[in-house]
Amino acid sequence: MYSFVLATHNIFRWLVLIFGLLAIIKAFIGWSGKKEWKGLDDKLGLGFTISLDVQVLLGLILYVISPLTRAGFSDMGAAMANSDIRFFLVEHVMMMIVALVLAHIGRSRAKKADTDVSKHKNAAIFYTIAMLLILAAIPWTRTLLPF
Ligand code: HEM
Repeated sequence: MYSFVLATHNIFRWLVLIFGLLAIIKAFIGWSGKKEWKGLDDKLGLGFTISLDVQVLLGLILYVISPLTRAGFSDMGAAMANSDIRFFLVEHVMMMIVALVLAHIGRSRAKKADTDVSKHKNAAIFYTIAMLLILAAIPWTRTLLPF
């Protein structure tokens, strides 16, 4: 169970990054070119937020079952002094949850905005900040693919 969730969490990051990148590029092109807000713009934002939702859910499962976090919880003092364990116990989770909230705010504001330019602008700004947080919080030193 643990290995399966960890491998899925590992691979799923690429889906989040691809959807996020496409949604951001499309939003900036739409914003700068004053383009019409189309179904694809909305679908890319949906793909980004849904893949992020699933990834966070997988992450929360790992947070409970991972030997790494369990070891951390068994001795919080030592865990906080160890930057590798603290990263997964605190920094990784907090930054990803903030990214999740920002991505959802961006999508909601893009849907509600009055003009197409404003929709693109909200998507571009919020998705970009969410993406920067995600990129900063991914443990890039670990394996890039689980096989
Ligand atoms: C609340 C959200 C999240 C939680 C609680 C969480 C939790 C975790 C935990 C506990 C681990 C370490 C598991 C272990 O080694 O035993 C982990 C690893 C990892 N997480 Fe997350 N995560 C979250 C969100 C994300 C997101 C949004 C991404 C990327 C888009 C991500 C990417 C990764 C990657 C790439 C690894 C390393 C996987 C590996 O070494 O195979 N996580 N996460």
